[in-house]
Order: sequence, then C-alpha cells, then structure tokens
Amino acid sequence: MLPKVFIAKPIPQTVRDYLGKFCEFAMWDKERPINRQELIEQISDREGLLTTSLITRIDEDLLLKAPNLRIVSNISVGYDNFDLEAMRKRQVLGTNTPDVLSDTVADLAIGLMLCSARRIVELNGFVKEGKWNAQISEELFGLDLHHQTLGIIGMGSIGLELARRARNGFKMDVLYHNRNRKIVAEEELGVRYCDLPTLLAKSDFVILLTPLTKDTKHLMGYKEFNLMKHSAFFLNISRGETVDEQALILALREEKIQGAALDVFSQEPINKNNPLLQFQNVITVPHIGSATLACRTEMAMLAAKNLAAGLMDIQPPNLVKELY
Ligand code: GLV
Ligand code: GLV
Repeated sequence: MLPKVFIAKPIPQTVRDYLGKFCEFAMWDKERPINRQELIEQISDREGLLTTSLITRIDEDLLLKAPNLRIVSNISVGYDNFDLEAMRKRQVLGTNTPDVLSDTVADLAIGLMLCSARRIVELNGFVKEGKWNAQISEELFGLDLHHQTLGIIGMGSIGLELARRARNGFKMDVLYHNRNRKIVAEEELGVRYCDLPTLLAKSDFVILLTPLTKDTKHLMGYKEFNLMKHSAFFLNISRGETVDEQALILALREEKIQGAALDVFSQEPINKNNPLLQFQNVITVPHIGSATLACRTEMAMLAAKNLAAGLMDIQPPNLVKELY
C-alpha cells in the first residue's frame, strides 16, 4: 500500500504525476488558501505533508493531531513555519527548497532596486495620470544604481546571486553581513564582509535576505534605520518579521531613509489600512520573490522529490540542517 500524503496547495500536473508513483495523495485545490483547522483535519491519517512556510505552523498541537506524520516538505526556501523542537521530539523530518529559486529572487531584488532608484513605479503613475506635459525637471530625477554601494544582510545563495549581478552587471561595491564569512564569495566576487552598523552606514541600498529565526526577528529596528544614510533605500525580500514595521514607518515619516521596497510584510496579505501603503516612496509587491511559473514549478518538483525520499526512508536532499 502506498503512503498517504496531503498537498496543502495546488501544484502543477507534472509534479502530481511524479508524486503519484510514490504515494496516494489528496490535494487542496480551492482558490482560497486552506486554513489551519482544515489542514489539521486533512492530515489526521497522513504520513506526508507538502506545504509552504506561509500556510500554518508545524507545532506540537498540529503534530499531536497527525500521529502518522513522518515528513513535512515545504515548497519554499523559508522554513520559519517549522517548530524545530516539536518536530525533533516527534522525529518528523522537514525539508525546504533552497538554490532553485536563487536566480529568480535575485532578479526581483535587482528589479526593486532599479524601480526605487529610478522611481519607475512613481513615474509610471505620473505618465498615466496625464501629468507629463513638459520635459521632466530635476525634482523628478532618480539616482544611479551603477557604481553605488549595496549592503546585503544574509549572504546565502540568494545573496550570492544578487552580489554577482550587482558586481558584474552594475559595477557596484558590495558589502555583506552574515553569521559566517563567505570567503569564496569574497575571493570570487570581491564582496566585503562588515559588521551590521558599518554596512548600514555605508550602503546606498540595504537589502535584507536573512531567514526568519529567533535571532533575526526585528533585526531592523529604529536604531538600525537611523544608522542608514538619508539617501539610502531599504529593501526586504526575507520575511516581514525580520523588520520592526512600526520602526520602518517612523523612519520613513521622519525621512531617515530615502525610500523602501518591500516584498514581505508583518501581516500577509497586508491590511489595506497599513500606513506603508500611503508612502509614494515605498514600493510594495505581494510576496513574489520566487513567483515565476518556471521557478515555482521547479520548487514544487524539488519539494516532491524531498517528500518521496523521506517516505521511502532515504535521506531527502534538502533536509533542514537543524533536524538531523
Ligand atoms: C518564499 O518566501 C520562500 O521561502 O520560498
Ligand atoms: C538567503 O539568505 C538564502 O536563504 O539564500
């Protein structure tokens, strides 16, 4: 008999065909996302769960209600939905999908930097609102991206791909801050390690790429925004909670920074009354870091491979490191 699996969001047919060889599955195929209660009901007799870090927390309470669960495979690089202690205790494996999204997310980072620096979103509005009636004057000029200093907080594989683009494509200086030095990146790309205050003080673009953990929650607060140049932009493509959002709003109000571009928020979807939506100099996109069809398909396939391996008692390629 094949093991039973639940898939918590729609995945491409090719990936379903692949999974069908290893397990018997049911899939959530409604347009609205599954809620926690519905998920718990669905997994009461399942051995495997294919989900994402944004759906629900895999904690003690959930695991108690899914006594057969052996593996949770995320279709996401983030695994901040894993209560690692609870999963370790119950010997439930957890996997994520690193690397396959790094190019795609790095592309978005470049896009958001260009949009911020050259005011592309704002000036698109300007044209469409019929305000373009003479050659634009200096107050609408943007800033250069090329030859500026980029500060990357969280130098994983996404950071590396971003650094490559910034160095080779835009001739930028790249500083980074990370738990450990990345000597290979330093040698290959000429990126420079520095402590967080120095990175914040020197960068024209500060980008947050770190995973959300106990140590990175509210990593960027008022003190940190205050250290940035008034002319600098802040970008967040990690998780909303790595930033103290109230502090960011205050820093924007007080013009401590030039602007921001945000892919992630403390609450997603964002509340329409969130003050961040009022700023002309803040670009907001709906958590689209990896959102291309090709990338999401590759992520789903990798997650399916991790799941299949786990169900067959083979070590999955992307077992999260804290769990083994
Ligand atoms: C998306 O946010 C991911 O973690 O892959
Ligand atoms: C970003 O820091 C990553 O996970 O690659």
